[in-house]
Amino acid sequence: MPVEVETWHHGLIAKWWAEFNDDFRPHEIPYFQRYLERAGQPALDVACGTGRLLIPYLRAGLDVDGCDVSADMIALCREKAEREGLSPTLFVQPMHALAPPRRYRTIYVCGGFGLGSTRGQDLEALRRFREHLEPGGTLLVDIEVPYGDGELWRYWRKEERASLPQEAGQPKSRHATSDGTELGLRSRIVDFDPLAQRVTYEMRAAQWRDGELEAEETHALTINLYFRNELVLMLERAGFADVVVQGDHNDAEPTPEDDFLVFVATKENVGA
Ligand SMILES: C[S@@+](CC[C@H](N)C(=O)[O-])C[C@H]1O[C@@H](n2cnc3c(N)ncnc32)[C@H](O)[C@@H]1O
Repeated sequence: MPVEVETWHHGLIAKWWAEFNDDFRPHEIPYFQRYLERAGQPALDVACGTGRLLIPYLRAGLDVDGCDVSADMIALCREKAEREGLSPTLFVQPMHALAPPRRYRTIYVCGGFGLGSTRGQDLEALRRFREHLEPGGTLLVDIEVPYGDGELWRYWRKEERASLPQEAGQPKSRHATSDGTELGLRSRIVDFDPLAQRVTYEMRAAQWRDGELEAEETHALTINLYFRNELVLMLERAGFADVVVQGDHNDAEPTPEDDFLVFVATKENVGA
C-alpha cells in the first residue's frame, strides 16, 4: 500500500527509538494498562512504534495487536518482542487507512495522533477507530497541547516566525548502542503555520563506528496541533457520543497545567 504519511520514524531514528526510548514517560504505561485490564481486550495499539507500551502489555499477558505507519518501527518492535518469546500481531498501516484483522474492545494512540497526516486524514482515522471498535468499546487518544512546549509556542507570533527555519546543527551528544555504534540526533523547527495549526520539524541523525561517521540521514515530520475543544468536536463528528477529557495520563480532570491530554471516547452499545 502506498504510504502517504511522511514521518521521521525510519532508519536511524527508528533505531534510536528501539535503543533509548523504553523509559520515556513511564507513567503512560500503567495509565493505558488499567483500561485494557478493565474488560478492555482485545486491544489495538495504534502507532505502536517499537513497542514501548505494547511489549510490557504482552509481557503482562494482555491481548494486544499493534500497527504503525513505519515498517522500520514495526520490524524493530517485532525483533524486541521475539527476543522475549512473544509473537504479537503487528501490521504496517497509516491510521487513516486502518483495516485491522479483528475488532477491539480498546483502541489507544499514544504519541502518534496528528503526525505526518492532514487534518482530513486525522478525522478519517477517528472514524476508522470507531468502526473497528466493538459496541461499548473505548478509544483513548492523547495529544501534547500546543502551548505545552515553550520553544514552539513563541512561533505563533509572526515576529518570531520570521526567524524560521531554525539553524541546522550537528547532534550535541552521542549515545552508545547495543551493536557497538554511537547515535546522535538533532532536531529543528523549519516551518510553523498558525492558520493551519501545523509545525514542521526536521531531524538529522548520525551514526558513528569506531569514532568515524558511518551514516547520516535527515527526515521531516509534520505535526497537526489540536486544542482540547477542537478534538472533542472531531470525535463527536466521527460518531462518538460520549467523550471525556483527562489530564496527563492521570484519570483526573484536565487543568491548564497539563501539557498532555487524553481523550476517552466510547462507542455506543447499540444492543444494550
Ligand atoms: C512518538 S512515536 C510513539 C510510539 C509509541 N506509541 C510510544 O508511545 O512509544 C510516534 C509513532 O507514530 C507513528 N505514526 C506517525 N504517524 C502515523 C500515522 N499517520 N499512522 C500510523 N502511525 C503513525 C510513527 O511511525 C511512530 O512510530
